[in-house]
Amino acid sequence: MADVTMEKLVSLCKRRGFIYPGSEIYGGLSGTWDYGPLGVELKNNIKALWWKMFVQEREDMYGVDAAILMNPKVWEASGHVTGFADPLVECKKCKRRYRADQVGDLSTPLEARKCPECGGAFGDVRQFNMMFKTQIGATPARTTDNVQSGGDDASATTYLRPETAGGIFVNFKNVVDSFHPKLPFGIAQIGKAFRNEIAPRDFIFRVRELEQMEVEYFVYPDEWKGAFEAWRKEVYRYIDAVGISKDLVHELEVPDGERAHYSKRTIDFEFDWPFGRKELYGLAYRTDFDLSAHAKASGAGLTMTDEEGKEPLTPHVVEPSFGVDRTILALLISAYTEDQLGGEPRTYLKFNPAVAPVKAAVFPLLKNKPQLVEKAREVYALIKKAVPQTMWDDNGNIGKRYRRQDEIGTPHCITIDFQTLEDDTVTLRNRDTGEQKRISIDELASHVA
Ligand code: GAP
Repeated sequence: MADVTMEKLVSLCKRRGFIYPGSEIYGGLSGTWDYGPLGVELKNNIKALWWKMFVQEREDMYGVDAAILMNPKVWEASGHVTGFADPLVECKKCKRRYRADQVGDLSTPLEARKCPECGGAFGDVRQFNMMFKTQIGATPARTTDNVQSGGDDASATTYLRPETAGGIFVNFKNVVDSFHPKLPFGIAQIGKAFRNEIAPRDFIFRVRELEQMEVEYFVYPDEWKGAFEAWRKEVYRYIDAVGISKDLVHELEVPDGERAHYSKRTIDFEFDWPFGRKELYGLAYRTDFDLSAHAKASGAGLTMTDEEGKEPLTPHVVEPSFGVDRTILALLISAYTEDQLGGEPRTYLKFNPAVAPVKAAVFPLLKNKPQLVEKAREVYALIKKAVPQTMWDDNGNIGKRYRRQDEIGTPHCITIDFQTLEDDTVTLRNRDTGEQKRISIDELASHVA
């Protein structure tokens, strides 16, 4: 941790094909980042692990993938149209805009703070709604015709969803009707969410287009505390499984007045980022706020019956929420290591093999020896079939290849040399220790898998 700086991480991520600035050749777009070939593999592994742990390995969980565009009434009922806002201030002199709770010395009143760019004074604070608005339909005005024919309702303004939770709540009834689950049970979703952050910053920590992995866990109203504790443990289980350093994670009980409008209790799982201790994940008790609000606004019956099948009740909800982008950043920080190997300094990513974007790299010792290359190609095809995230590398000398693979966190490097041609064994090198051993090609695929 001591050696990680954001500059080193951002540079490694760009150079090695993990993460690039969004729309870079046009000068970028603030708050957006593009995941490159290694970044997308890492991201997919992180999401697959989460889905396996929280959906596939459990009996009480149901997955959905809802539309990002939703009827705007969803966001009116959920309270986001009126309540999903950050405090905005503008410098009276240079007109730059800031979040009032992030600019200057927060222990002094806003009137005493100055614009960090030009030293100007701030105007009044106003609430800035963070939802991105978008227009549905092609025609400019609503007409009786297109409404009656079921055509586009051009007058509809809607929003890009600010949390994936919305798509879960509106599918509660569908899942209940299709699967008849008993309480407690959960619905999970992984997907994009959009927030018009006033001040996106710190690489992929605060972005405008983000991805979330969320569970809405429905319980009997008097059983929420047990579910809250169980999910608190599950959050740590995931932190451990994905490879985030637990000693950098701390809990914050979010006090009254600072929680989201829907929450009666929230724990933030904070992480020690190079830029300070801030939220990684959240766990909230959303009561029956959402189901009741959607039932009232839509007229749909969003209740269930109790075990005896008599009393209709509105379940309460415990919600663990995981940001994908923050998982990646925490993982990069946890994995980043600088050490000395064979008397030489090196940088490597100590990824848990389960999430490493490349699991194994296969090299011919020399690329100008056709027999070696041919044999290495055979081994590569064999391993790639068993473990698709396997890479071919024949650039530069063997030392350089090891360094390159270390830097992207590849756990296994496999070298095909002259001895391979004689006895069908290869050199297998361990990323963390640099140790090499010979292993027979027959055992290789199962070893790497
Ligand atoms: N459904 C609950 C919810 O959305 P949140 O605390 O606003 O709660 C949940 O967001 C998680 O989403 C956060 O803990 C964080 O991991 C991630 N997140 C939120 N805003 C983000 C942003 N602007 N950039 C990156 N990740 C973000």
